[in-house]
Amino acid sequence: MPTDPPLLQVKDLRVTFGMDEGTIRAVDGTSFDVHPGEVVGIVGESGCGKSVTMKAILQLVERPGRLASGEILFRDRQGTQTDLAKLDPRGPQMRALRGAEIALIPQEPMAAFSPVHTVGAQIIEAIQLHATQEGRRVSKAEARETVIGLFRDVGISMPEQRVDAYSWQLSGGLRQRAMIAMALSCKPRLLIADEPTTAIDVTTQAQVLALLRDLRAKYNTAIIFITHDLGVIAQMTSYVVVMYLGRVMEQGPVDQIFHAPAHPYTRALLRSIPTIHGETRTPLPVISGSLPHPFNRPTGCPFHPRCPEAMPGCATATPKLLPVAERQSAACFLHHQEAEP
Ligand SMILES: Nc1ncnc2c1ncn2[C@@H]1O[C@H](COP(=O)(O)OP(=O)(O)O)[C@@H](O)[C@H]1O
Ligand code: SF4
Ligand SMILES: [Mg+2]
Repeated sequence: MPTDPPLLQVKDLRVTFGMDEGTIRAVDGTSFDVHPGEVVGIVGESGCGKSVTMKAILQLVERPGRLASGEILFRDRQGTQTDLAKLDPRGPQMRALRGAEIALIPQEPMAAFSPVHTVGAQIIEAIQLHATQEGRRVSKAEARETVIGLFRDVGISMPEQRVDAYSWQLSGGLRQRAMIAMALSCKPRLLIADEPTTAIDVTTQAQVLALLRDLRAKYNTAIIFITHDLGVIAQMTSYVVVMYLGRVMEQGPVDQIFHAPAHPYTRALLRSIPTIHGETRTPLPVISGSLPHPFNRPTGCPFHPRCPEAMPGCATATPKLLPVAERQSAACFLHHQEAEP
């Protein structure tokens, strides 16, 4: 149970995409907290708004996406809380936060590095830029040594040679490690890993997960870990946020989520997993009924068309996310009667 005040508080975040056909509510009132050094898992079917939520935290949502409302409160090293939602996405404050305080390992592995510069040159540039922002000067040679050290930390063999490689010369596993090295180069206090193991083989996946665990232990970095692999959630995280159609359905300590899930959606996710022991890896199971089309959002509780426990009021009113146990909350009328206004 974390005692430090939250590092990040996302409150009622809404992100919309204005398309010719209509407006997509990709993130529709999401709220969750991340405490220092905590590993928070975010789970939910593809398209439920996980990546968009993370891009919104860093103000990297691409057009026609727009942060429609909500707060993103981040506590910096000095303890000052800033609402990132109010910052200019291209302004100096937001640029200084990206990488130095909050780093993202993006879902698209090719997106992280430019093909025209070596991987090392790009990380060296990031290190020097952040030093300058903090009023320090780091020489190219010093930054290069830092990169080689980071490569060693993330398990890249022959780091002195690899530092001069282009991203397209690296295998998927090495590129993933180089991306993690890039994300860690400025010692962020929050690392967002967006499905970091989907593009790599099982052995490398296990190594990357072990690496992230070590790094958390070494630097007390808080991690938001996005995956649709419930086995990974069980292994890696201490707190879990379950999302569906841009909303948080349930959140709670990992043991509670697996052993006392409060929400029918969470229960449906868990039902078809036979075992969740150490090495068992189970992808997100298929739940009966299909995910509604983005333009065709259900009214009321977003899960009601697929919910085995739906009641008459569920189609018209949207349940609030409210506490059901210690640090656990659920958005479901089985637990309370409070609807969104
Ligand atoms: N560039 C975009 N243009 C239009 N809609 C988008 C765009 N990116 C995301 N969306 C919408 O936002 C929803 C959530 O996407 P995303 O956050 O990437 O889901 P996931 O949970 O799989 O990471 C998608 O279903 C899609 O409707
Ligand atoms: S509010 Fe109703 S439809 Fe939604 S999850 Fe709860 S019981 Fe099911
Ligand atoms: Mg995604």
